[in-house]
Amino acid sequence: MKQYNCLICKSVVKEFISFGKMPIANGFLSKDQFKKEYFFNLRVGFCSKCAMVQLLEFVDREKMFHENYAFYSSTSTQMAIHFKEFANDVMRRSINKDQFVVEIGSNDGIMLKHFAEKEIKHLGIEPSSNVAKIAIDNGINTITEFFDEKVADKIIRKYGKVDFFLGANVMCHISYIHSVIAGVKKLLKPKGLLIFEDPYLGDIVEKISYDQIYDEHSLFFSITSIRNLVRMHGLELVDAIHQETHGGSMRYIIGHKDEHKIKSSITKWLLRERKLGLGETKTYNKLRKNIEKSRKDLVSILVKIKKQNKRVVGYAATSKSTTITNYCGIDSNLIEFISDTTPIKQGKFSPGTHIPVKPYEEFKDNYPDYAVLFAWNHSKEIMAKEKEFMKKGGKWITFAPAPVKIS
Ligand code: SAH
Ligand code: TYD
Repeated sequence: MKQYNCLICKSVVKEFISFGKMPIANGFLSKDQFKKEYFFNLRVGFCSKCAMVQLLEFVDREKMFHENYAFYSSTSTQMAIHFKEFANDVMRRSINKDQFVVEIGSNDGIMLKHFAEKEIKHLGIEPSSNVAKIAIDNGINTITEFFDEKVADKIIRKYGKVDFFLGANVMCHISYIHSVIAGVKKLLKPKGLLIFEDPYLGDIVEKISYDQIYDEHSLFFSITSIRNLVRMHGLELVDAIHQETHGGSMRYIIGHKDEHKIKSSITKWLLRERKLGLGETKTYNKLRKNIEKSRKDLVSILVKIKKQNKRVVGYAATSKSTTITNYCGIDSNLIEFISDTTPIKQGKFSPGTHIPVKPYEEFKDNYPDYAVLFAWNHSKEIMAKEKEFMKKGGKWITFAPAPVKIS
């Protein structure tokens, strides 16, 4: 069996689950593309030395992030509110007036627009040109590049050092994370801060939200693993704040070593992580068993409903749904279509299992008996919007947070 070395500390990493062949999670496609669809082995391992959970095989970044990238940040109103608050949190931390704020993975400008509006010097780094273009058209300074240490050098030469280096749902996408952190280390002013957030491993383990595992998510962070990673670059984790977004995320606040007071939150979270067993192999073996049970339960519910000749539709063609449909073998025999509000996904088919993706109106105009809630992380926003569906007897099928249930 091939040996894998940890992306972070180079120790040998043990696989704890393999999902088999998987397509690109955001690779919604048309019929004529079915034949040449790309697949890779989705395998996950845990490094018992530095505690980083990680993919073992990676997809080339250009295959995931390009001019037809299907994820547009601004599709959720809840996320728009969240990023306004994130920007406000950063502004409250500002110590001087002439700050420079850089954001990695700035997408359509959902967060940076708040800095642009206040005429704060800012720069977005966003390699997917279609989403970057939206930001640029809205007057947000953006470069269409993959951030790494070389790009950091370029930014220093052209714009100078930064006060805040921000990121949301992007650091965990990057298998060449050492180059990114090395770049941030160079870029940050002495009192500068790296503030980023990503889905939190503790939530994934507790909620059995294995749909967070797909090609784009190379790394699954915890306080323990982030502390280890940034220490290797002379940086220090100074605070961590839990977020409700994406089914449970963690915001990490990091500075140069010995430049900031370390908040008590770090000790608190480290203790919780020890209790949850995030540093132990047996936790991940248990997670695998829980994932296998979740799959069995979801498939058996869908097969039972199918036998009753009831209609089932998927709600939101999230990238996460690609893991669920492919791993569980759910195709258009079990789910009629997936409704989604993103124009670029509509009229296409879901990656791998080729379920038609249809405009939201097709759900609204002809309610099914059941809807599988693929965007369970936006459940508050969706429940508020779908009162009529529920009033008419429509039921939700959910798998995360575990257990699988109908409500
Ligand atoms: N921050 C946004 C977008 C998250 S999706 C949000 O939270 O909604 C991840 C984004 O990171 C994509 O737009 C992708 O193109 C971008 N990305 C991926 N690798 C990157 C890299 N090395 N540097 C900068 N952006 C990157
Ligand atoms: P998200 O969970 O952010 O996706 P991902 O798993 O890709 O990170 O959900 C975004 C997708 O969900 C996007 O395709 C739009 C769709 N969506 C709807 O169709 N309706 C909704 O009410 C919401 C909130 C999202």
